[in-house]
Amino acid sequence: NPPHPYYAGSDGPGTFPYITVTQRWPSILRGVMADMKAAAQQESSEKAKEGEHIADQVELMLQEELLKDAPLRYFHGKTWMTAGWLWTECYMYRRIHHLLLISTHWMDFDPFFTKKTSNFEGNKEQILQLSNKITKAVDSNGDSRILFHEFASTCLWGNSHDLSLLATMTESEAARQKSSGNNLKEQERLIVVNHLDQSWLAIERTKKGRIDFVCDNAGFEQFVDLIFADWLVSSNHASEVHFHLKTYGWFVSDTTLPDFHWLLEHCRANEYNFPELTQLAERWKSYIEKGVWKVRTHPFWTTGYSYWSIQSEAPDLYDDLRSSSHIFFKGDLNFRKLTYDCKWPTTTPFVQAIGPLSQDFPPITVLRTNKADVIVGLTDKIQKAEYPENMQLFFSALALDNSRKLNH
Ligand code: F6P
Ligand code: MG
Repeated sequence: NPPHPYYAGSDGPGTFPYITVTQRWPSILRGVMADMKAAAQQESSEKAKEGEHIADQVELMLQEELLKDAPLRYFHGKTWMTAGWLWTECYMYRRIHHLLLISTHWMDFDPFFTKKTSNFEGNKEQILQLSNKITKAVDSNGDSRILFHEFASTCLWGNSHDLSLLATMTESEAARQKSSGNNLKEQERLIVVNHLDQSWLAIERTKKGRIDFVCDNAGFEQFVDLIFADWLVSSNHASEVHFHLKTYGWFVSDTTLPDFHWLLEHCRANEYNFPELTQLAERWKSYIEKGVWKVRTHPFWTTGYSYWSIQSEAPDLYDDLRSSSHIFFKGDLNFRKLTYDCKWPTTTPFVQAIGPLSQDFPPITVLRTNKADVIVGLTDKIQKAEYPENMQLFFSALALDNSRKLNH
């Protein structure tokens, strides 16, 4: 059990978990139904029929279970509202996947794939600018500290490109969300706690180490993760980078293996007629071929468990991660799982909130734009004066790191 009460839909009207259960999840399920039906229509008879059937099953789950706040199947006593938000949200994506998995023709279908690829296409200008920037950084002998901050911050703001929130955002909110990260200087003041200096001290000492990314969203966010990883390799801090991805469509936009390779191929294809991008993608491909970059999946990432349970639930993954020199966790869901998604006092130190991972585990940096209530690591000053509630969600970010604690 978490050390504090967990967030749940039953926190009541006006809370973000409540809005999530009553509005955002229904809207995400409707999106899945629509995309499933559209995909089914492209298919011939038997497959089309099965696709329609899956869409109907999703509709049943929405109408008869979620909207009626029925008890969760397979779990006694808890409903969609009363079970922990983190657990229930993971359960919903697992249920969608289960419907696909037991089918004959749709087991590999990702109902979110089209959304993810169009997210990448929609950010062409920034992608070209970043290709230029990394090409220059790799070719020149720039100040490593400054480059680390630039690429890590770009990587952080890439997390604002998650698609699970778009389901219920207004147009202006979506535009504002998308523009975050366009101007790093301006965005810096929106980082409520910024430990990147601390993170840099740990990375600076890491020479040809293994650095891990527990990735989040596909498309633009994946692109900025790769840019950052590219810099870590070219600056000799990493000789290996391991990317941890999801095994199926998860929280709408999370990166799966097909998404990862789609992006590489798309960049290599030179559709944008931009040689820097093509060269970059060629280099990335060679990193994968030579094993400098390793793309990995593990079923643990698509469970509802908090990362406090990683050692007991996925001992092989836990042991493997312990060989890393530094782990970057990307995004909101990873933050929620690291901190057990429970009601910590907001000034709780990050090292405390990650529980067992604060010991006998590599240094962790989490790069997260805030999209859920749980928050830790705030100073008293920010807590009282500078952190109005409406800033907590959506347009602020956190870059928390525990390496200083580990070194002492
Ligand atoms: O509530 C917002 C939300 O959908 C959360 O459910 C989830 O934690 C998050 O957004 C997904 O965001 P990210 O892609 O950053 O993990
Ligand atoms: Mg995500």
